[in-house]
Amino acid sequence: MTQYNDIPAPDSLELSPEQLAARINELLPLLQQYFRDLPDAPAWESPESVSTQFATPSRAPDQPQNSSDVFGELFARLSPSYTTSSPGYMAYVPGGGLPDSAIADLFSNLTNRFITVWHAAPALIRLEIDCINWFTDMVGYPSEASGYFTTGGSMANWSSVLTARRNLLEADISNARIYTSDQAHHSVLKAAIMAGFHESQVAVIESNDRQQISVRSLSDQIHRDREGGLTPFYICAHAGTTNTGAVDPLNELSALAKSEGLWLHIDAAYGGFFMMTHRGQRQLSGINEADSITLDPHKGLFLPYGTGCLLVKNRKTLEKAHHIDADYLPPMQEDNDRIDFCQTTPELSRDFRGLRVWLPVQLHGWQTFRDYLNEKLDLIEFAYDRISQHPNIEIVGEPSLSALAFRYTKTGLSEDALNNLNKELHEDLVASRRFLLSHTMLKGKYVIRICILCFRTHQAQVSFCADEILRIAHQLKD
Ligand SMILES: Cc1ncc(COP(=O)(O)O)c(C=O)c1O
Repeated sequence: MTQYNDIPAPDSLELSPEQLAARINELLPLLQQYFRDLPDAPAWESPESVSTQFATPSRAPDQPQNSSDVFGELFARLSPSYTTSSPGYMAYVPGGGLPDSAIADLFSNLTNRFITVWHAAPALIRLEIDCINWFTDMVGYPSEASGYFTTGGSMANWSSVLTARRNLLEADISNARIYTSDQAHHSVLKAAIMAGFHESQVAVIESNDRQQISVRSLSDQIHRDREGGLTPFYICAHAGTTNTGAVDPLNELSALAKSEGLWLHIDAAYGGFFMMTHRGQRQLSGINEADSITLDPHKGLFLPYGTGCLLVKNRKTLEKAHHIDADYLPPMQEDNDRIDFCQTTPELSRDFRGLRVWLPVQLHGWQTFRDYLNEKLDLIEFAYDRISQHPNIEIVGEPSLSALAFRYTKTGLSEDALNNLNKELHEDLVASRRFLLSHTMLKGKYVIRICILCFRTHQAQVSFCADEILRIAHQLKD
C-alpha cells in the first residue's frame, strides 16, 4: 500500500484572524475616502473615457500580486462608470447599495453557510423566511403565501412565468398565450422565452394615455384568442413601469384574470416597496390579488445589486414548479415553517441574500425605510411642481410613484424636430455630470425621465436638477 506521509498542504488561501483584520484594515481607509468623495463625485463618466489598460483582456496572474496595487486598481477601475451609488443618480431605476448590506455580505461570505436546505442551517433559513414574510405581509398576502430571493427582478419575472406554466399548463404549451402591455419591462418577453415560449406567444396590449394597460383591449384580445383556439394563461401587469412609473389598474386586472382563469403576475420590481407607505398602498391597491409578485429589494429597499424577490400567493405553486427529490441531499421538510429552498426555487447552492435585507432592517428599523420612501414620493412632487410651471415643459402623464417623464415642446415643430430638440436638451442637462437622467421613447416621443430612488438623493440634488431643467428650457425659449 502506498504511504502518503508528506503531502504538503498549501495554506496561503487561508487568512489567519490577524491577516483577515489586516486585509480589511487595508481596504477600509480606501473605502472611507470613496464615501467622503461620493457626494461631490460625478454622477456619471463617459464609458469612452475608460483607459486602454482597463479595457483590454488580462491573464490570470500566476503569482500573488501586491494587495495595495490590487486595491488601487479596483478603485481606478471604478471611475468610468455611472456612479449608481451617487446622490445625483436619477436615471433608469436607481439602485441602492446600503453599507449595512455589504457588512451582511461580509458576514455571510466569510461564514459561508448552505442556505438552501433547512437541515443544513435551520436558524439562518428561518431568518430568510422571516424576511420573505415581512414582504408577504407588506403586500397583504395571506399566510399560505411564500417566496424566495432571486438575484433580481428579471429572474423573478422568469420564475413567475415558469411557476405559472408548471401549475396551469400541460406539456404542450404551443397554444398558450401570455399578455402584457406595450409599457412592459423587456425582461417580461425574455422571461417568456426563457420559460419555453415563442415570442409570438406574448400578446402586447396597448396602454392608455396614462401608460396603463387597457383592460378593455386585454379582455377583447383574450376572447379573440380563445375563439381562435388559443389558451390564454398568464397576464403580467406592472406596479411601476420602468418608463414612467405607471401602475396598471390592478383591481380590474385581478377581476379579469379571475373570471378568465388566468394567472396574474405583477411586476412590482420598481414600485413594490412603496407598499410601505400610505400613498403607495393607494396606488398599488389590489396587488394582494395577484398570484405572484416581483419585488426588487435592490431598488426599493436600497440594497446592493443582486437581490430580487418573487412572492407567490400560494406556497404550493412554488413547490409544484420546483420539487425534485435527490438521494444525496439531507432529509427534506414537510412542515410549512421549514422551507428547503432547493424544493421551491431553481437553485441549489446560493448566496445568503436574505441577510442583506435582515441586517439593515434590524439595525435601522422598518420605519426608517418607510420614511425614506415617503421622502422619495415628496421629492418627485417637488420636482413636478418646479418644472411643470414652465410653459414649454410637458409632463407626460402625472408623476407616478417616484418617477416622471417630461419633454420640451414648441409650437410649429414636427415630432421629429421635437425629438431632436429633446435629445439635445438631455445632453445639455447631464453635461455637468452633477446628476444623471435617462431618456426613453413614449409612443414615438423622446422623453426625459427623472426617477428618484437612490437613498442618498435628497432635496438639494432634486432642486439643482429642477433648476438646471428650467435654466436650459429658458435658453431654448430665447
Ligand atoms: C419594472 C421592472 N421590471 C423588471 C426589472 C428588471 O429588474 P433587474 O434589473 O433587477 O433584473 C426592472 C429593472 O429596472 C424594472 O424596472
